[in-house]
Amino acid sequence: MTDDLVERARTVLSEAYVPYSEYRVGAALETADGSVYVGCNIENANYSNSLHAEEVAVAAAIRDGYREFVRIAVSSGARDGVTPCGMCRQTLAEFADEDFEVICDQGGEETTTYTLGELLPDTISPATLDAAAAERAASAEGGADVDDDSDA
Ligand code: THU
Ligand code: ZN
Repeated sequence: MTDDLVERARTVLSEAYVPYSEYRVGAALETADGSVYVGCNIENANYSNSLHAEEVAVAAAIRDGYREFVRIAVSSGARDGVTPCGMCRQTLAEFADEDFEVICDQGGEETTTYTLGELLPDTISPATLDAAAAERAASAEGGADVDDDSDA
């Protein structure tokens, strides 16, 4: 049986606004408490401003106060196993850890599941900035022998 989350991603495909690419994408994002937020792609005549399905799902969940996520399912009208693009992977990495599951719809009962760590290893994240801030704080405490030639 197809995962309910994949079904949610498929259902929202019909809402996609894709007059330019005609490539529909649907996403269904599951929060830590089991709520599901869906999103579809929304294109624009200037091409650049297009919103991706994953971004729309993340935005809706964040708008409602959610910050912890466990899985996302992504489907395209072609059921071709679409994976989130690089930008969407980075958007997900802001809120999800490397074990977060990305379920890609290949049509029928077929899906491929990746972890976010597989799709986007070693990326910048809030943890990167926290670690850098901790290093700066430790250097400041250490005082005079700090070798920091940055402008900041
Ligand atoms: N698209 C998404 O919605 N999510 C992705 O991560 C991949 C690309 C959309 C953007 C555009 O509307 C269409 O798919 C073709 O790139
Ligand atoms: Zn994307």
